[in-house]
Amino acid sequence: MSKILVTGACGQLGVEIINGLETQYGRGNVIASDINEPGDGLTGVPFEFVDVMNPQQILGIVKKHKITIICHLAALLSATAEKNIDLARKLNIGSLHSILTIAKDEKLEKVFWPSSIAVFGPDAKTDGTPQNSACTPSTVYGISKVSGELWCAYYYNTFGVDVRSVRYPGLIGYKSLPGGGTTDYAVDIYHKAVKGETFECFLKPDTRLPMMFMDDAVKATLDLMNANPDGLTVRTSYNIAAISFTPEEIAASIRKRYPNFEIVYKPDYRQQIADSWPDRIDDTVARTDWNWNPNYDLDTMTNHILDNLSDFWKY
Ligand code: SER
Repeated sequence: MSKILVTGACGQLGVEIINGLETQYGRGNVIASDINEPGDGLTGVPFEFVDVMNPQQILGIVKKHKITIICHLAALLSATAEKNIDLARKLNIGSLHSILTIAKDEKLEKVFWPSSIAVFGPDAKTDGTPQNSACTPSTVYGISKVSGELWCAYYYNTFGVDVRSVRYPGLIGYKSLPGGGTTDYAVDIYHKAVKGETFECFLKPDTRLPMMFMDDAVKATLDLMNANPDGLTVRTSYNIAAISFTPEEIAASIRKRYPNFEIVYKPDYRQQIADSWPDRIDDTVARTDWNWNPNYDLDTMTNHILDNLSDFWKY
């Protein structure tokens, strides 16, 4: 019987991944953990306060719940990491080391750890970035993700730790608020639209970035975790792609439902982060190895989010 620990459960991805894992493994077999108080989305889910920068705390919870799989989501996102270099190093890289060590020592069944399109920097091909493109990022977040990917491959190759990873694009959901990412403008924009407010965008209108609806991100995560290990040729992290759009394109998609929606542009330091990332990435290897295939395009995502957002937050 698998027993799963999810770190960073209160973050953008946490609640959604936990819902997906509970569907597969059953309520009670998924333990949520975070340093923050759990919100309404985690009602009824077993919860532990865990500071992932404290390896003893993680180990204690692993032993207490007889954990077999860790889904390690706790991290600072790109914009926040740029403003907190030391914390980003300790949290994003240090905690992964602790978890890989625990996975090796406790002989865990599997680890999932998310990487990001941020591993690519100005040297990578921007349109259709291949799986093996140069990973020379110029951001704190990107550096932490490249380093993490290499550690994952090392622990797999050297100790046989079955660690699996995807390079998430910007993830867009409506069940949590933006969490300090450069792609998070595309979360915030829907909130402003539903509230009838003008959206001030911190990126330029034509800044194209790879993005994905949250349901597809959960699907990718579960599909990869369930995949036959023999078919997995990548033990750093898989490119996965779904949608790619600019601020003016998402605004146009919203206007199909809210014709009076307004957006103004005030680029800040996050523009430089976005400019260093690909426009669109190539995910052929993930499609071949474990049949990755997304379901949502920009308009189906917009419709789904706008249909649910006001109810979810009771705007
Ligand atoms: N969504 C992340 C960020 O913007 C990138 O993976 O930080």
